Amino acid sequence: TPQSLLYPYEVIEEIADFITKGSGMRPKIGIICGSGLGSLADIIQDPKIFEYEKIPNFPVSTVEGHAGRLVVGTLEGATVMAMQGRFHFYEGYPLAKCSMPVRVMKLCGVEYLFATNAAGGINPRFAVGDIMLMHDHVNMLGFAGNSPLQGPNDPRFGPRFPALVNSYNKDLINKAIEIGKAMGIESNIHVGVYSCLGGPNYETIAELKALRMMGVDAVGMSTVHEVITARHCDMKVFAFSLITNKCATEYSDKKDDEANHDEVMAVAKNRQKACCELVSRLIREIHMA
Ligand code: HPA
Repeated sequence: TPQSLLYPYEVIEEIADFITKGSGMRPKIGIICGSGLGSLADIIQDPKIFEYEKIPNFPVSTVEGHAGRLVVGTLEGATVMAMQGRFHFYEGYPLAKCSMPVRVMKLCGVEYLFATNAAGGINPRFAVGDIMLMHDHVNMLGFAGNSPLQGPNDPRFGPRFPALVNSYNKDLINKAIEIGKAMGIESNIHVGVYSCLGGPNYETIAELKALRMMGVDAVGMSTVHEVITARHCDMKVFAFSLITNKCATEYSDKKDDEANHDEVMAVAKNRQKACCELVSRLIREIHMA
């Protein structure tokens, strides 16, 4: 089956109805919590919680550190829905399945996608714990001929050939930079290019070197296909990476160059307060505007 036919419009609509009726809300902002950043959903007020396995036709997430539930409620006065646990290509799901919740968000009424992830820092200026606001991406899975939009296009979602320049909303990036200054963490905030690889293995040094030469600042295993799906249906996108480890782009005898999931989770846990504050403040600004 072509990817785009896995979840027809009617199926997405049914899931969206289940969530809007079950919560009594039409959320305006959708949040995807990255590895170790599940607390972004824990700060939602008056939450209505939908376990993935109880949502009709919804996939279940299989990764440690990713709960599997949708949380609908309010944050800074704005109606939001957050995915605590996302779906990854390396779990064996086609990209259209990984990003299908973005279409559910769209039909629930969501206008803004906030996507977060844990990523390895390739840019040598990045330190562990820094936040990289995404202003562009390099879609490695796309280079390899894979896309969540592959297959017949349903124009109710968006156009056959969506443009992706200006995918990452500049106003939101600028607002986030200002918020970082107000929080006193401007030296820990960067703007850069993210790339998604298939995973689940971390990268080789030669691969990281190649990514660096391509202009990539941070690397992970998510987000890009979600952003493509969101832009296809004309959502405004804000995304950031929490840098959980530094990627070696040169060979060395030191052992500590290896990425590992426990380290990723520990750093994310340490930095979740700052990430929550950034997201809350940005949502407040959107809500007040
Ligand atoms: N590579 C890929 N994905 C990641 C990394 C990394 O170094 N760190 C966190 N997610």
